[in-house]
Amino acid sequence: METSHDTIVILDFGSQYTQLIARRIREAQVHSLILPASASLATIRALHPKGLIFSGGPASVMDETLPSWPQEVLDEDLPILGICYGMQLLAHVSGGIVSAATRREFGRAELTVLDRTDLFRDLPSSGPFPVWMSHGDRIESLPPGFVCLARTPNSPVAAMKYVQHGKRWYCLQFHPEVAHTTYGPQILRNFLFTICGCRPTWTMRSFLEHSVEQIRARVQNKRVFCALSGGVDSAVAAVMTYRAVGKQLTCVFIDNGLLRKDEAVSLPKLFAHYNGFECRVVDARDSFLRRLRGVADPEKKRRIIGRQFIRVFETEAQRVGDVTFLVQGTLYPDVIESVSAAGPSATIKTHHNVGGLPSRMKLQLIEPLRELFKDEVRVLGRELGLPEELIARQPFPGPGLAIRILGPVTSERLDILREADAIVREELAPGVVDQELWQAFAVLLPIRTVGVMGDRRTYEHVIALRVVTSVDGMTADWAKLPYEVLERVSNRLINEVAGVNRVVYDISSKPPSTIEWE
Ligand code: XMP
Repeated sequence: METSHDTIVILDFGSQYTQLIARRIREAQVHSLILPASASLATIRALHPKGLIFSGGPASVMDETLPSWPQEVLDEDLPILGICYGMQLLAHVSGGIVSAATRREFGRAELTVLDRTDLFRDLPSSGPFPVWMSHGDRIESLPPGFVCLARTPNSPVAAMKYVQHGKRWYCLQFHPEVAHTTYGPQILRNFLFTICGCRPTWTMRSFLEHSVEQIRARVQNKRVFCALSGGVDSAVAAVMTYRAVGKQLTCVFIDNGLLRKDEAVSLPKLFAHYNGFECRVVDARDSFLRRLRGVADPEKKRRIIGRQFIRVFETEAQRVGDVTFLVQGTLYPDVIESVSAAGPSATIKTHHNVGGLPSRMKLQLIEPLRELFKDEVRVLGRELGLPEELIARQPFPGPGLAIRILGPVTSERLDILREADAIVREELAPGVVDQELWQAFAVLLPIRTVGVMGDRRTYEHVIALRVVTSVDGMTADWAKLPYEVLERVSNRLINEVAGVNRVVYDISSKPPSTIEWE
């Protein structure tokens, strides 16, 4: 993006924490971008970075072949911060000795700081303090010209710098980006402001102003179309576009019959205070249900829903007529060419996005959130005045309740699951439970079990309760909810949802399980 913001470029050597580094930098109001470690020097130069960060990664500098990376970047006289593998790589190319540690160091370690002049500036002189380690190799001897800045009991060189001949290279064996490193944010701020001289101008307000102008200049007097999904991303993208072009934007919300209770009614209301914001609800419930009849296979369900979505979408776009642009809520993690093992695409399944459509319909894409992380989108949503109810929404899969009904989808089963889901959401809403939950939902199992209600034997449905904590949906743990909360949810589900006589709690983590049951 063309702005006057200072930028830090992170070269990704495959660490699970690379995106976290980028987010921490942005929290300090400095713009950051991630490039694969194999990026060319020209690509890096084109971004005019004020500094570089080499991330951690699974490789070892003692491996026969090193991951490819633009070594010429070392001649650029840019400040560099090497973290974990990034540190070992700098040590290795500078003639230091890196070897396999006799004791690998994972988790908490106590850091003793030896030099507080720049990277550790303003850290308390009392110490040691906790840092988060995750490494098998360690620096045995300093490369020539380097100065040791800190140590831990296991790493004689836990931090070092090389400041001469125009170079300013800083290295950390530990991870300043993770919450367990107590002064991590301060260390990163020192790198950004003291060492790189960045200005803290990256705020969602300035981003918003700039993006709105850009959209306006691009769209001019053409028509723009947007399909709202009910989630925060498409809503924020749409409202930004609306701010830029007003009534030239038409939004539709396709009710596929697989939505949560009252969603088709409540969603348009959330936009009510934007004067003239057009959000039409398209009732396509029958067409989706008809096509799903008798289908039990989850991937088949997804394909049917995806295809039908595209049909309805196309019809609606044609109804608006003469559309040139399509707004999509694509986020930064979906566009980063990450080399991380799981990769960003592992977050989300192939779902009913409108992938091939823009080119088929000759639509140009407007993706105002391409540069942002989810937490930034939420801040932007608040900046735009969107209600908290929408901003704090849990992720909800595109194919909706269809993949939470195991086996064929029928309207009777949808009714049961919708009621159950509403109760789960109510009882586990933020503020009602203390824990911060990633998702809390009900799954309807394709079996019936015996129960007794009053004096009668029953033979009814089972609801599985899925409640997880997670930071990004890629890994997750089942939430250790208090028994009283579980008891309340179970009682309400059995007493209030006709057709349910048993509730079970899912105690599997991801991996090896997934969050959705499909
Ligand atoms: P799994 O089940 O793979 O889900 O552990 C990871 C996260 O992704 C969400 N999910 C989806 N989100 N469209 C979406 O927008 C989809 O088709 C889809 N499928 C799963 C899921 O709810 C969880 O948060």
